[in-house]
Amino acid sequence: MDLDQNVIEEHYANQAIDANALNKLIELDFGFDQIKPKDLAAIDEFHIGGRKATLALARKISLKRGMQVLDIGSGLGGASRYLALEFGCRVTGLDLSKKYCDIAGMLTRQFGLDSQVCYRHGNAVEMPFDKATFDVLWTQHITMNISDKVALYKEMWRVLKPGGFWASYEILAGVGGSVHFPVPWARTPATSFLQTPEHLQGLLDEIGLEILSWQDKTEWGRLWFQNMNKKVQEQSSKPLGLHLLLGSEFKMMAQNQIRNLEEGRITIIELIVRRPPVNGH
Ligand SMILES: C[S@@+](CC[C@H](N)C(=O)[O-])C[C@H]1O[C@@H](n2cnc3c(N)ncnc32)[C@H](O)[C@@H]1O
Repeated sequence: MDLDQNVIEEHYANQAIDANALNKLIELDFGFDQIKPKDLAAIDEFHIGGRKATLALARKISLKRGMQVLDIGSGLGGASRYLALEFGCRVTGLDLSKKYCDIAGMLTRQFGLDSQVCYRHGNAVEMPFDKATFDVLWTQHITMNISDKVALYKEMWRVLKPGGFWASYEILAGVGGSVHFPVPWARTPATSFLQTPEHLQGLLDEIGLEILSWQDKTEWGRLWFQNMNKKVQEQSSKPLGLHLLLGSEFKMMAQNQIRNLEEGRITIIELIVRRPPVNGH
């Protein structure tokens, strides 16, 4: 693992409460017999737009029972459990943070979804999966942490079945200049690797991944985040939230996220991509 990856893993997990502590917190404050998977969205949907963004992305592809889905950078697993519960998919989550994989595994067992959903600790640029394993790849807010985009997209091409889809909801570089730090994905520019929309389009084309749909969600995300930022600023009183993962700096990160959106320094793109089928199949 290189230095960047250690720093990224540390960024996401150094403040994070572990699986046992989160388990106790949920059990004491809510009880797993009362709480539904969707009630954890404040902490397990770690992207702009939260659960709404996950529902919108899922509607863009035709998911079917038994499909093999890989959630790359699965975090605490909100989306992976949703895809299993709602569509009957078999989902594997892959994440660089061992702590996140452990928490995601704990939550998934508590909700009785562990026969459908599992997590692997690993790096998206060197995935521990055979070629053509998955029908669908899923990414939400992860590519900005990955410097070697060519390695990432080649790995995605390799593990995706011919004719399979990649559903993506990502932060890209805006036209407004460099980002104000810290942000929820990085404390400094050293581990932030935003690419421009043009760069992304060029690379996908080179690797042979075909863009089927491209939607700019920046304004939608800005409005959502503005609303959520108000809640974040009072979040110390809320039991569940991203402050449990990112610590007290999360308030500053959320403020910067709003500024970055308002000043056009970041842009949010929802994208559906396909690995072309072989001989029409
Ligand atoms: C902002 S969080 C998003 C988590 C999840 N996709 C969600 O939307 O709730 C980014 C996640 O990407 C993971 N990540 C970053 N770089 C990675 C890499 N090279 N390989 C796998 N996971 C990575 C982090 O550990 C973190 O869990």
